[in-house]
Amino acid sequence: MTKGILLLHGPNLNLLGTRQPEVYGSTRLADIDAAVKRHVSPFDIELRAAQSNHEGALVDSLHEARNWADGVVFNPGAYTHTSLALRDAIVAIELPVIEVHLSNVHGREAFRHQSLLAGVCLGQIAGFGWQGYILAVDALLRRWGMLDEPAAAAT
Ligand code: DQA
Repeated sequence: MTKGILLLHGPNLNLLGTRQPEVYGSTRLADIDAAVKRHVSPFDIELRAAQSNHEGALVDSLHEARNWADGVVFNPGAYTHTSLALRDAIVAIELPVIEVHLSNVHGREAFRHQSLLAGVCLGQIAGFGWQGYILAVDALLRRWGMLDEPAAAAT
């Protein structure tokens, strides 16, 4: 049966490619979305990507995901560090959400070390650039038995 994944991007991520490329890389958001779509194309996955600079719109996207998605890969941008509303939305929708950051937030300014969201997410991936989205999607595919476990885990 088809599984749905929402790939959700928060504020300022529409500027990827030109925004501090030394921190966030030079790949544009549209190219990241396309790469993730290509990555899931061999699987029975419906992937929808969305980006918003507005906290409430991100809350709405999470709520809507309840109607069609089975998991969410979410880069909440700076709202990671501030948003109780997004935390409550993640709890409310009862879907597995994986928090992704392009940069290693733990090696940056102290105010980026705290995530209000990570504790209610399935997990957090940070510091691997856009490949982090692929790692997150793979974690969902494994959870759903659509990808083999790594060999070491099978022994
Ligand atoms: C980010 C990290 C956040 O601290 C920052 O506000 C962003 C991007 C990342 O992907 O590394 O906008 O989420």
